[in-house]
Amino acid sequence: MKNKILAVLLIAASVLALTSLSSDDYFAVDKNTSVEDLLVRLGEKPQPHQPMMNLQGVSIENGRRLVSEGFATERDGSGKVDKQSAHFVCTSCHNVERDEPNLGVVDAQARLEYSAQRGLPMVQGTALYGAVNRSTFYNDDYVKKYGDLVEPARHDLRKAIQLCAVECAQGRKLKNWEVESILAYLWTIDLKLEDLNLTEEQLSDLTAAANGNEEKASSAEFLKSKYLPGAPATFVKPPEDRKEGYAGIVGNPENGKLVYETSCLHCHEGQRYSYFNLDDSDYTYKYLEKHFPKYTNYSTYQVTRYGTSPLPGKRAYMPLYTQEKMTDQMAEDLRAYVEAEAGR
Ligand code: HEC
Ligand code: HEC
Repeated sequence: MKNKILAVLLIAASVLALTSLSSDDYFAVDKNTSVEDLLVRLGEKPQPHQPMMNLQGVSIENGRRLVSEGFATERDGSGKVDKQSAHFVCTSCHNVERDEPNLGVVDAQARLEYSAQRGLPMVQGTALYGAVNRSTFYNDDYVKKYGDLVEPARHDLRKAIQLCAVECAQGRKLKNWEVESILAYLWTIDLKLEDLNLTEEQLSDLTAAANGNEEKASSAEFLKSKYLPGAPATFVKPPEDRKEGYAGIVGNPENGKLVYETSCLHCHEGQRYSYFNLDDSDYTYKYLEKHFPKYTNYSTYQVTRYGTSPLPGKRAYMPLYTQEKMTDQMAEDLRAYVEAEAGR
């Protein structure tokens, strides 16, 4: 009798173990599923930039604070570390939320509208949201600006972060535990399936591929086709003739207002990240209008296309806008808005 009970118990236990094993093994696919987790499940190699969480001081919270406030808590908990940069925080130039409606294409105008609609600024840097899902950094023309510094950072997110801390933010080098903390934080803002605008049918195909033995590689390829592996970057020049502006383009002042408010004011309103103040006054619009056609650093054509250089002792500078972030049309829209406001 005892033996029988034991046998029944044993069978019950193994059935339980088996079902829990298979439900453990089931990979649920829904809008919150991490794109990286699904890719790994489909047989892709994990991204190389996994954070080293066992290093002393590494935490998601420290990473978040470094990115949005510029400092973290010292490793032994004794206090704040030195501010990373006296001029900027990472979020001066990068959003930490998704700022593009379709991650599979480049569309500067759509990015502007989507950012404005979500209450985000339109900035020169690509969003840090989803950065861990990319494989190449400082692409294309950025080599013209940063030269040899770009090569090691191009396929290495750790080095890309370090390059940006020093060159873009004009601050100090990050310590290893700070870089790892930033990575840990960036992995909390990785792409989720809902960011890829998939249909119900595509989601259920992915569920099948993740839980079966077929279509794994093609599903991974499909998934990767829904977002860019790196942000393209094309440097463009101011118009040949700055009085004329970009040839054949008629500016739309309404859209120019959106550019001004969503982008320029983000850094210049109340001298937020720059000594150069921009606001909604007649004086400002007249000033911008007067300088638009000139060949100086006060010309909006000049600073949007070339940026400004960090001066010694005063190392805040303005990053340029690539074609992918501001089209020639958008530049003319801005001019049309400035001229309309200056002429009122
Ligand atoms: C003054 C502006 C500015 C600041 C401040 C700044 N960045 Fe950047 N960053 C850029 C620009 C411009 C690029 C060029 C590539 C791009 O983002 O499209 C870039 C590139 C990057 C890239 C590579 C992105 C890619 O997909 O090519 C990473 C990662 C990055 N920055 C991280 C940081 C971190 C972390 C900080 C804070 C420590 C920071 N950045 C501060 C402007 C800035
Ligand atoms: C990421 C922040 C940022 C954004 C966005 C930005 N600027 Fe700047 N801009 C700066 C910084 C920093 C300087 C450096 C000048 C300083 O601090 O004195 C600067 C300089 C300038 C200058 C030259 C002033 C001088 O003292 O040399 C002009 C003109 C200008 N910006 C206009 C614009 C316009 C127009 C836009 C929108 C299209 C814009 N900026 C967007 C940060 C920014």
